[in-house]
Amino acid sequence: WWSGVEMGPPDAILGVTEAYKRDSNPNKVNLGAGAYRDDQGKPYILPTVKLAEERISKRNMDHEYAPISGVGEFTKASINLALGDNNQFSSNGLNATVQTISGTGSLRIGGAFLEKWFPGNKDIYLPVPTWGNHIPLFKHSGLQVKTYRYYEPKTCGFDFQGALDDISKIPEQSIILLHACAHNPTGVDPRPEQWAELSKLIKDKKLFPFFDMAYQGFASGDIDRDAAAVRMFLKDGHRVALAQSYAKNMGLYGERCGAFSLICDSKEEADRVMSQLKIIIRPMYSNPPIHGARIAAEILTDAGLRAQWLTEVKGMADRVISMRTQLRDNLKKEGSTKDWSHITDQIGMFCFTGMTPEQVGKLTKEHSVYLTKDGRIAIVGITSKNVGYLAHAMHQVTK
Ligand code: LMR
Repeated sequence: WWSGVEMGPPDAILGVTEAYKRDSNPNKVNLGAGAYRDDQGKPYILPTVKLAEERISKRNMDHEYAPISGVGEFTKASINLALGDNNQFSSNGLNATVQTISGTGSLRIGGAFLEKWFPGNKDIYLPVPTWGNHIPLFKHSGLQVKTYRYYEPKTCGFDFQGALDDISKIPEQSIILLHACAHNPTGVDPRPEQWAELSKLIKDKKLFPFFDMAYQGFASGDIDRDAAAVRMFLKDGHRVALAQSYAKNMGLYGERCGAFSLICDSKEEADRVMSQLKIIIRPMYSNPPIHGARIAAEILTDAGLRAQWLTEVKGMADRVISMRTQLRDNLKKEGSTKDWSHITDQIGMFCFTGMTPEQVGKLTKEHSVYLTKDGRIAIVGITSKNVGYLAHAMHQVTK
């Protein structure tokens, strides 16, 4: 039956981890996928996650199916985390929020909903570059993938003018994808005043904004600050789609815990939208897993746990910032005369180094440093122990 099946390429991001695992060099470094490590290079289980798990376990909860839309306490807490407590949208029932299979599942359900119900063009405009999985994911949802300029390689920064020019040419009634904070892969975000201009242009052009918020808290260490763009767009009168993930900010990677929301004009509209989201989910995976959602809900709804969680998120964000500084300092110590200021200017889990595919190839082959071909390094995988080795290797391939 399967003699005609072609061998496919490894995944551009997760394939890097597979290659890393096969390498026997004791000095190997994995900076491929965005998964936070502590300073010993170990996965970090947030203490609040452990506490929440203990509490849940003591309750002897059953393992019945969740509703199609997921764990109710979780979806309620999730939209409030994004929009702020007592926000006028969820207070008035204007959100249709479903629990999803983390951020990817959220984008995929959102894509499927837009493909079926979006009244305008079935075109979604993505920034260049964007998270590699966005492209196949939205194509798989049946949307046409188009692009707008975002990153300026010369400055390793935001191409604001390029973005404005391209967005102003997008046909009305199209969908535009925006990274809410900590843009992946570039680590380059618009400043607040640039967001304000983007919001105005997107409104004037009658575009529909779809926010991917996979890193709330990870950009600045402040949950509210990282949600500022989404909240600004709503204040400006946009109706938005929103994908949330708890993989990074709670370290719940494998639990696949996320949410998808559409903000509607009335409660009655939100109810109709909700009914259709459920109709999309049911034949795909019936209903979502409960464990991660219970943990997230416990943390978000208990004042003590929540306060502690916020300090843990800040702790992760701060460690990343200090690794950026150390990498830059070590490159200087190595004698690199290149301008590496973007390492500390960029934010979030990643640094878009500007290294070429050839340099990346050498880094992996000669130094066992693993990263994606586009030159993105997951800063979250750098530790005080490997930063010197990494800087040396980066200098060797870029001098
Ligand atoms: C990444 O970009 O490394 C993460 O979002 C992990 C993934 O699923 O690709």
